[in-house]
Amino acid sequence: MPLFIKNKKSVMLDERLTHIAFIMDGNGRWATSRGLPREQGHRAGAKAFQNVAQYCETLGLKAMTVYAFSTENWKRPAREVEAIMDLLEEYIDSCEKELKDHSVQFHFIGDRTPLRPALRSKMDRLEEITQDNRMILNIAVNYGARAELCRAFETLKSEGQTINEQAISEALYTSHSGDPDMIVRTGGDLRISNFLLWQAAYAELYFTDKLWPDFGPSDLDAAIREFYSRQRRYGGV
Ligand code: IPE
Ligand code: IPE
Ligand code: MG
Repeated sequence: MPLFIKNKKSVMLDERLTHIAFIMDGNGRWATSRGLPREQGHRAGAKAFQNVAQYCETLGLKAMTVYAFSTENWKRPAREVEAIMDLLEEYIDSCEKELKDHSVQFHFIGDRTPLRPALRSKMDRLEEITQDNRMILNIAVNYGARAELCRAFETLKSEGQTINEQAISEALYTSHSGDPDMIVRTGGDLRISNFLLWQAAYAELYFTDKLWPDFGPSDLDAAIREFYSRQRRYGGV
């Protein structure tokens, strides 16, 4: 089937593309190339994220997952880590203020234990007050797929459950949203960096050199067009 196109400019989604995940990479390089501190790149990246999330909501996407901070990102200078955590808090505050304008169901995926208490309580609250909203938005913070899988296996073991594919999927942070149909990585690197290893089994991978702060709706349209041009065979013919 050809791409479902509403008009020449915008794309329309159907049941083949309901969940898109993003590895939002390239904030640091975006800032450095402008002679700015890396923190400014994260601020610009946060803006790009809000713009793309809004666009996904407009497109009617069912679920969106974004990689905001990995289990490995703690290796960065404390100042950069703090700036990212500050941005997350700011973002959650702004979402609370604009609740009526959106229908996003927030989920923060990853291990929250080492996060600051103020951020954790804001996360809990935003999830709670948006639980009946339409579009699922998973924000991965202190997320690593290997840690997620270990946690899932530990849960299944402690509950005495049988290990099978369904049980593992249901024990992951993403049990409410299923697997992404497409994973988009910006920033030019061709790797997964410990993101959604289990869930990505049959995801279409889309890589672009665009740095995340420069990524916008027209770039997502290009990714969506590419998605619809591919044939997903799932091992069949
Ligand atoms: C992605 O951008 C954001 C996070 C990992 C938090 P980077 O900060 O990794 O940007 P580059 O890859 O250094 O340009
Ligand atoms: C992946 O980007 C993590 C996020 C986008 C949050 P990184 O910049 O951390 O990945 P590597 O180090 O290039 O693999
Ligand atoms: Mg990076």
